[in-house]
Amino acid sequence: MLRHLARQQTRRYRVLALELSCDDSCVALFERVHGSTRLVEEVRETLNSTAVGGVIPTAAHNFHQERIARLTQQLCAKHNVSAANPPGLICVTRGPGMVGSISAGLQFAKGLAVAWDRPLVGVHHMLGHLLVAGLPPVEGDFAPPQYPFLSLLCSGGHTLLALLTSLAEHEVIINTADIAAGDAIDKCARELDLRGNMLGPELEKFVRNIDPQRIERFRKVNTRDPNNAYRFSLSTPFRSTKHAKIPDVVQFGFASFPSSIAGYKAREPWDDEKRELVAFKTQELVFDHIVDRINVALTKHGQDGGKLAAVKDFVCSGGVAANGVLRQKLSQNLKAPFRFHFPPLKLCTDNATMIGHAGIEIFEHLRLKSSLDILPIRRWPMNELTQVDGWERVGDAEYAKACK
Ligand code: KG4
Ligand code: ZN
Repeated sequence: MLRHLARQQTRRYRVLALELSCDDSCVALFERVHGSTRLVEEVRETLNSTAVGGVIPTAAHNFHQERIARLTQQLCAKHNVSAANPPGLICVTRGPGMVGSISAGLQFAKGLAVAWDRPLVGVHHMLGHLLVAGLPPVEGDFAPPQYPFLSLLCSGGHTLLALLTSLAEHEVIINTADIAAGDAIDKCARELDLRGNMLGPELEKFVRNIDPQRIERFRKVNTRDPNNAYRFSLSTPFRSTKHAKIPDVVQFGFASFPSSIAGYKAREPWDDEKRELVAFKTQELVFDHIVDRINVALTKHGQDGGKLAAVKDFVCSGGVAANGVLRQKLSQNLKAPFRFHFPPLKLCTDNATMIGHAGIEIFEHLRLKSSLDILPIRRWPMNELTQVDGWERVGDAEYAKACK
């Protein structure tokens, strides 16, 4: 027993992680020492889609095939990773996401696993986002969140509030009825003629640069009343009198935001002041809506021994979680006294660090690895993490070999 403990204490191994589920080719190398993870280095290249206004899947597939081998080779050469000195474990995104992008990463990772004779873990991309607050350093509360905790995943492809009761048990408490918050924000930003490879941060910057006196004036404009001074209507979904205050299913909805803006632009002459008003109100109301629906879920499930009653920690993850206004609204307006965990900005958007971290958790705590037959999964529900095909138990000998 003591010998076993001593072995655990001195366990030291490296991990290579790859994230290719959309437009980033991203690779990270970790060192795992005495049960804690240290990121050695992460490198990435991102497909530039500014000119076409959105990621084209075939272009992303080709981009990854072109870039990922060289990028990995450079990272490995720099840190003395080779067939003679391989990492103990390889982690790669298996889904959900763009199948072409995922398969470029997955095939490459399988090749490395075969060549280096090391286990492979095919990671759920959203689990990576959800667990990212377990990696130091995290703003706010530095201790990792304790199960059960709530994680708001707010990205370009997904917007959901999940309850994590353990590493493999997740329940989606709120999902989106239509599109994701990031997708809506990007569409709104395009209506506002903002340009860039990532439009959410452009909108945040644009609003931050509006004259503060104007902002005070905009705050007083009630966009629920269509006869306001600007005749601009925008409201948070599911709040009208025709909706139950506490519905059977609590949902987010974001599709109405870009369509309201498109309708306004078609009706009214457009000028700089209106553009600023629309940008400001969009950001405010999208995030007010998120806070409002979470508060409804807390009322529904948070009292009298409900499933959220024991939750103390709240993690905000995914690209949109990088937004300062969202962070402020969550920490000020949610009605439960949570310990908030806001990952550093670079861990909010897609990255290989989160994939490595989630893969290590799966390998060490669930003792699972993926078979070499696995295929990308385009749609992979959060509550089916271990129910999909391709998981294999890691035996003691293989575990010891990886973690030597
Ligand atoms: O998690 P992520 O990098 O990729 C997906 O898995 O979707 O999220 C990308 C999304 C994009 O919609 C982007 O515009 C949005 O996150 N985003 C932001 C901010 N940074 C990224 N949205 C609002 N404010 C930001 N600061
Ligand atoms: Zn993502």
